[in-house]
Formats: sequence, structure tokens, C-alpha cells
Amino acid sequence: MTSYLKTTPNADGFFGDYGGAMLPPPLEPHFKEIREAYATISKSADFIAELRQIRKNYQGRPTPVSYLKNLSKLCGGAQIYAKREDLNHTGAHKLNHCMAEGLLAKFMGKTKLMAETGAGQHGVALATAAAYFGMECEIHMGEIDIAKEAPNVTRMKLLGAKVVPVSFGGRSLKEAVDSCFQSYIAQADTALFAIGSVVGPHPFPMMVRNFQHVVGIEARDQFLEMTGDLPDMVAACVGGGSNAMGMFSGFIDDACVSLYGVEPLGTSSNLGDHAATISFGADGDIHGFRTLVLTDENGEPAPVHTVASGLDYPGVGPEHAHLHKTGRVNYTTADDKEALKAFYALSRHEGIIPALESAHAVAFAMREAGNNPGKSILINLSGRGDKDIDYVTETYGFGEDL
Ligand SMILES: Cc1ncc(COP(=O)(O)O)c(C=O)c1O
Repeated sequence: MTSYLKTTPNADGFFGDYGGAMLPPPLEPHFKEIREAYATISKSADFIAELRQIRKNYQGRPTPVSYLKNLSKLCGGAQIYAKREDLNHTGAHKLNHCMAEGLLAKFMGKTKLMAETGAGQHGVALATAAAYFGMECEIHMGEIDIAKEAPNVTRMKLLGAKVVPVSFGGRSLKEAVDSCFQSYIAQADTALFAIGSVVGPHPFPMMVRNFQHVVGIEARDQFLEMTGDLPDMVAACVGGGSNAMGMFSGFIDDACVSLYGVEPLGTSSNLGDHAATISFGADGDIHGFRTLVLTDENGEPAPVHTVASGLDYPGVGPEHAHLHKTGRVNYTTADDKEALKAFYALSRHEGIIPALESAHAVAFAMREAGNNPGKSILINLSGRGDKDIDYVTETYGFGEDL
């Protein structure tokens, strides 16, 4: 582990000014138990060996890095590469932390895993972990996302999870987190709330980052082996920020590598039309931690929109707020149209159908390639787009009008 990762966050879970744990009193002992259990297992040779075994023989890691030669040629300028988390079992990076959280739950003697989900990828990954470890699983999902991501709802049910539809407020990711917290309070003795990203009260932002760190470690080694050098630019989409933190953490101490987080600009920069929290948000609290938040005129989390359900969150992981403040990571945006164009382009020219979330990182690479001749751009292709094909083709056809 690098020096940055060892010292960040501090013992109270703060990344500079952001993070911490603001918990309702009934949850305090449960989070203390989680912190202590994580501190124990993260230093346990047995835990590390079992996780490595699972990653290799069950998840199919390491996932490869692919050189996107056709897209590079099409865009002109920089050479574009992708870390293929779409090839991780269940089709996204989410399984990296879910299998580890399943192991943690087993160590703690829990019998149930529960979480929120937006695009359904975290829900599928957690349901998979629950099936593997022989546990119950409860997934909260907004009604809008249930309609949009129907294949993932079917997958979760096949895997044995109970899917709880969330019908209040914006019926999306933020409300799914609210609903899951409510349900968790009543069953925290027997369940682990395996939060779906680098968000939530300490220790989740740190723990999920550390479980995703494998992505950055592998990608750095693979890129060096492939090209003999480090990439000039590394980019990932940012919802809560777990795939981005996994990737960035591998390069965080390499000052020569520029890091880019790509937020969803939705349909416009007007409040309510996007979910670009770092670009437009202000300091605030959400779901038990301090970070940047998009708020309405009453100071409440604002409604958000993006074509990618997994990026539809009015907050962001506290470490991203910190890395934005320190300037180590550059945050930028891609809108729905750019993401859709990238979705079609990667499918048509590389034979890889990306998740709509990941398509935001592809859009960044396509836009920036022309501005960076002779450079290399490595993106995290966080997931595959099978879950999105019905919604995309029914709504936008095959991309002729974009
Ligand atoms: C494929 C994929 N990428 C990215 C995300 C966004 O999450 P995060 O920002 O935590 O990586 C999601 C969320 O569902 C996802 O399914």
C-alpha cells in the first residue's frame, strides 16, 4: 500500500475536511463493530489469502487492459486503453468490494447482506456474494431504476435476493440509500449494510476504496508491461466514486500521471438536470458523512438526472471532495449525449458494449484524444452494458440521430 493510502483518511475517517461518521445513536455500536472487524481482517493473512483465492478462481481476476486501436484511430491524437472491469464476474467492478464485504460479514457472524442499488450492478454483485457465502440478501432500489434496469432486477431475484422497490421522493439512488438505512437500523444485529460505493459513514469510504484498490494495482502493472511506461492520463466515471478510487489509488503517488474524474452532466448544467456534484456542489452533509452535495433552495439534496442510473447521486465520496480540493484529481463532465455517442462508438468500433456509467469515461477519452497527440489515456471501463441495451435502443434507437 502506498504512503498516501496508509495515511488517508485519518483515524476518524476524515479525508482532509471531508468524511467522518455522523450516525444515529442506535447505529454507533454497529459501526464501531464494523471498524474493529475491518481493522482485524485487513491485517489477517487468512483473510487476504481467501480474498485472493476468490478474486482469482471465482471472479476471474486479473481483468485485462485492452488497447482500443480502432477508437484511437477514429479519434486521432492520443492512444486509448481500457481496464476491463466489464470482464469481472457479474460485469462490473462492484463485485470487488462485495466479495470482500461478504467475507467481512462472515467474519462478523452476520447472516444477511443488504444495500441500495442504482443501476442494479451493486445489487447483482451483492446478491452474488450472498449466494456464494450462503447469506440472505435485501436490495433497495428506486422504482425508476427498477423500470430502467429490468435485466438486473431479474438477475438479483434469480440470485435469491429480495428486491425492495422504493416509491418515495425521486424514486432513485438517494432514496434507495434512505430506505436501506431505515431497514438496516432494525436488523443491524444480524445484517451488514454493504454500502455500494466509497460513500457513507466511516469506515465505508476507506474500506470500499481499499477493496477496489486491486483495479489500480493491476492496471498500473499491466500498462507498464504493455507499453514500458505509465499512462499520461487516467480517467474514470464518478457516481459515488468507487471505480474511480480503485483506479486512481494505483497511480496516486505517480505525480507524472494526470487523473480525471468524469461526472454526469445529464441534459444541462441547470440544477436538476445533472448529477455533477463536484463541479457544481457545495460543502454539506449527506447519509452520515461530510462531502460536496447538490442542494435545493431549502438546503435539501437536490433532484438529479443522468442517463446512467448508477451515477444518479446528489453527493459524492468524501475522498473525491478532498482530491478535488488538493488538486490531485481533475474533475470534468460528460453529458448524456456524449455518453450515448460513446456507448454506440465503443460497441460499433471495438466490439465492447459499455455500461452507460462507464460510457462517460469513454466520452472523456474520445473528446480529449484529439487535444493530446502522442499521449496515452487509460480509462476504467467499469462495467458492461447488457443491462442498458433495452433502455438505450428503445429510447434512442441505434444512434443514428445523435
Ligand atoms: C458499471 C458502473 N460503473 C460505475 C458506477 C458508479 O459507481 P461508482 O462511482 O461507485 O463507481 C456504477 C454504479 O452502479 C456502475 O454500475
